[in-house]
Amino acid sequence: MNSWLEKKSKLTPETTPVHVAIIMDGNGRWAKNQGQERVFGHQHGVAAVRSVIEGAAELGIRYLTLYAFSTENWNRPRAEVDALMTLMVKAIENELDEFIENNVRLQVIGDFARLPEECRTALQNAINKSANNTGLTVVLALSYSARWEITQMARQVATAAAEHKLLAEDIDDQTVASLLATRNMPDPDILIRTGGECRVSNFLLWQIAYAELFFVDKMWPDFRKDDLLEIILRYNARERRFGKTGDQLQSH
Ligand code: FPP
Repeated sequence: MNSWLEKKSKLTPETTPVHVAIIMDGNGRWAKNQGQERVFGHQHGVAAVRSVIEGAAELGIRYLTLYAFSTENWNRPRAEVDALMTLMVKAIENELDEFIENNVRLQVIGDFARLPEECRTALQNAINKSANNTGLTVVLALSYSARWEITQMARQVATAAAEHKLLAEDIDDQTVASLLATRNMPDPDILIRTGGECRVSNFLLWQIAYAELFFVDKMWPDFRKDDLLEIILRYNARERRFGKTGDQLQSH
């Protein structure tokens, strides 16, 4: 039997994560290992993005957040930044019809204004055309970092407080969550990082408070939907206690 279908049949709506977030790392090293330029790795990274989106949609995952470009990535050589932006525009334009066909909705989190105009136009077009889709939501984190996001939130809180629209004692975690770029999205159940490094690199720091973390050695261009499913099955073998004891969970 097809191993994808066999493994997929082990999941039920209850055991399927609602939100999976991924730090797609290792494109550069993957390319260097083959004696190629870093951009070659990013180009092959698009095939991994396509496979994982397809897999997430087939599994009934509601949100898939992909760390495509961090605030810190602006410090990379200009040629690499330009190549990444061009690649992103092309990928979005190429995939849009498929998104619409598969009921996939596109959203973006990050400092949108900092992106090149061509990139903003392609993204806005894809966001608008897919806005009414009700299947998987793909969230691209672009020019994103959690510290940027938290700083923006703090500014909004300070402004609202100065205008007497918010009292200090009324601020709770709902207030904070409602002012982050991820407002209206559930927190990730799973955070995956490819490429062998064990760090979270300024990604969704508030939102991953209770996420299960998976660090895998595979470089991003080699990652496929089967790897995603494998991780989800491992996730199901873990017990999420949210600060409670194991006994408390079993009495429910
Ligand atoms: C990290 O690898 C990868 C990135 C910074 C870019 C990820 C972008 C893509 C896979 C293309 C995205 C396309 C769409 C449509 C979302 P790295 O360059 O940091 O690798 P390294 O750690 O080996 O240097």
